Amino acid sequence: MTSVNSEKLSSARFAQATDAFVEVFTASVDFDQRMAHQDIQGSIAHATMLCACGILTVPERDAIISGLTQIGKEISNGEFVWSIKQEDVHMNIEARLTDMIGVAGKKLHTGRSRNDQVATDIRLYLRSEIVQITAQLTRLQTAILNLAEQHADTIMPGFTHLQVAQPITFGHHLMAWFEMLRRDRERLDDCAKRINVMPLGAAALAGTSYPIDRFMTAELLGFSRPSANSLDSVSDRDFAIEFAAVASLIMMHLSRFSEELILWSSAQFDFIDMPDAFCTGSSIMPQKKNPDVPELVRGKSGRVTGHLVALLMLMKSQPLAYNKDNQEDKEPLFDTADTLINCLRAYADMVPHITAKKANMYTAAKRGFATATDLADYLVRKGMAFRDAHEVVGLAVRLGLETQRDLSELTLAELQGFSVLVTEDVFAYLTLEGSVAARRHIGGTAPETVKAAIQSARQILGNA
Ligand code: ARG
Repeated sequence: MTSVNSEKLSSARFAQATDAFVEVFTASVDFDQRMAHQDIQGSIAHATMLCACGILTVPERDAIISGLTQIGKEISNGEFVWSIKQEDVHMNIEARLTDMIGVAGKKLHTGRSRNDQVATDIRLYLRSEIVQITAQLTRLQTAILNLAEQHADTIMPGFTHLQVAQPITFGHHLMAWFEMLRRDRERLDDCAKRINVMPLGAAALAGTSYPIDRFMTAELLGFSRPSANSLDSVSDRDFAIEFAAVASLIMMHLSRFSEELILWSSAQFDFIDMPDAFCTGSSIMPQKKNPDVPELVRGKSGRVTGHLVALLMLMKSQPLAYNKDNQEDKEPLFDTADTLINCLRAYADMVPHITAKKANMYTAAKRGFATATDLADYLVRKGMAFRDAHEVVGLAVRLGLETQRDLSELTLAELQGFSVLVTEDVFAYLTLEGSVAARRHIGGTAPETVKAAIQSARQILGNA
């Protein structure tokens, strides 16, 4: 039987063909074809389960599986013809299957709906993206550890308020970045657990009257379990929002690294040399070498956070269960994963080639009276109250500023002029080396502590 609108989905219900613009406006195939292989994977598992439950015959199942496998190849080869008329990735594949194998193709959709199908596809897609993200994270973490190892005793100024605060080691600073990524990775692993739950079987919203085996489909697809509530399964995208939140945090961290690399490679700081291959020149100023990669990554962090907010807004007013609004989840989600993978990759490629200008870092730490706290601590150990010591050291710093000398360059007599508690041993505390070496408790900046932190980080990474 044919009708005027024979091409339309659920055509029998409609007396009118879809408005031409509405057809384009509501279609998602241009972007959701990205999930074609996940869609095929899900359909093969679904057909396998339907057959095991006696809902499809073995020949029907086999025809479906070989048809879908063939379609997968056509898609990979770029031979598959996508059609707006078929609206989305799911209908395009199903229509092609029916063209290929006839009536068995029409039976594939038994006991499911596009609502549980699309929710499954997104979860499968995110699962494989997370594998790639984790691989890039590991590369970057390893690069950071290697650089930290080279610089476990390289002294630099540590900052608060972007003012020189206390001397630290560059290795310690790098290990702070490592810690941020370590937590990011834990968050990603945790989010992957909630992604790895299977919606198939929820059908449109209420489940299905066929005697299906959801445990079997879940197992075939490597999900940890079938979802517990059909309405929830087809409607909530919280797992995608959570993924975008994790991605935003990683990008926020990359943005902070970027900011530091940009500052440090400026002539004003001059702490590091960025590899030429990751910088570009200016079209007008011949002397320029711009840190483009960190700048772009910093910029892209805004874009990923934007996607997180878009997904939250998309979800927040939807009544149960599925609504077409959810079709809008794909583009922000795809772009989030792509952007994150690219930024991590650029960083993992770049970090091994960053060189530290040790002498400049050292001089900057000296110029900033970075050991002032060490002098105060010294006086406290000799019996002075901390507030008084703070005051006394303030006077010593002022003398240093006026005479353009670091605290370690003041004479013993000058220091004794501020407090009779000062003796010859004070100089051991005023050097940058002495200051960092004294902070040898767990989490501190002493070279030996940093080396131990790197050691245990390597173990954590190896076991991850
Ligand atoms: N393209 C749709 C989406 O992305 C698939 C689900 C359509 N379901 C429906 N009842 N219209 O959400």
